[in-house]
Amino acid sequence: MVQKKYNILMRGFHWVSAILIIALLGVGVYMANFNSAYKYDLYALHKSFGMIILFLTLLRIITKLLSKIPTLPSGFNLIEIKLSKTVYFLMYLLTITMGVSGYLMSDLKGYSVKVFNFKIFSIFSINSDIANLFHSIHIYSAYILIGVISLHILATIKHIVVEKINLLPRII
Ligand code: HEM
Ligand code: HEM
Repeated sequence: MVQKKYNILMRGFHWVSAILIIALLGVGVYMANFNSAYKYDLYALHKSFGMIILFLTLLRIITKLLSKIPTLPSGFNLIEIKLSKTVYFLMYLLTITMGVSGYLMSDLKGYSVKVFNFKIFSIFSINSDIANLFHSIHIYSAYILIGVISLHILATIKHIVVEKINLLPRII
């Protein structure tokens, strides 16, 4: 029988990650660029959920490597298949880059990283220059990730509207 859907674990990972990543991007831009009475609570929440999504993404990649991936329905050419794989790869790479650069910039600035009340071990002593480098990586990767996710969502909509192929049931 031809497998039509991603397995339950991959579907679960997709939507939990999608919600968390979109929320982290929104909260990140807001807390870093606007003043609010809750600024420092938002930083703590952002760091906690950022570390959680880093861990979840590593688990998700292992799950993907161990899973059977359903082939795309007919109607997609080789270039579109390669393009979709590149976009998925970039989303994984950028999410890991965001998590790692976030942790490293905080650690190298001397700020402890906690997941709620649980303190994550520190690796490096303070180094402002390298911290600033990871800070820049965090910011640039965030805006590239926003662009790539927008492409991913627009592609899903375009397949529904133009080619009348709805891929959503494969991931829901
Ligand atoms: C409203 C938002 C979203 C929609 C409507 C959506 C839609 C979809 C659909 C329809 C597929 C299945 C494609 C196929 O049939 O092969 C898919 C797969 C995928 N999506 Fe999304 N997506 C959304 C958000 C996100 C976000 C925020 C990310 C991560 C940053 C993401 C990452 C992926 C990845 C990596 C896959 C490939 C399967 C996997 O490795 O889990 N998606 N998405
Ligand atoms: C997938 C995970 C993550 C995403 C999507 C994300 C996203 C963002 C975004 C969009 C910004 C605002 C960039 C700007 O406009 O200046 C930001 C800032 C920030 N993030 Fe993350 N982040 C993630 C993980 C983390 C982690 C794990 C940490 C630390 C443990 C962290 C710490 C910070 C800090 C401290 C800032 C504020 C920098 C400033 O004040 O300029 N982030 N993040």
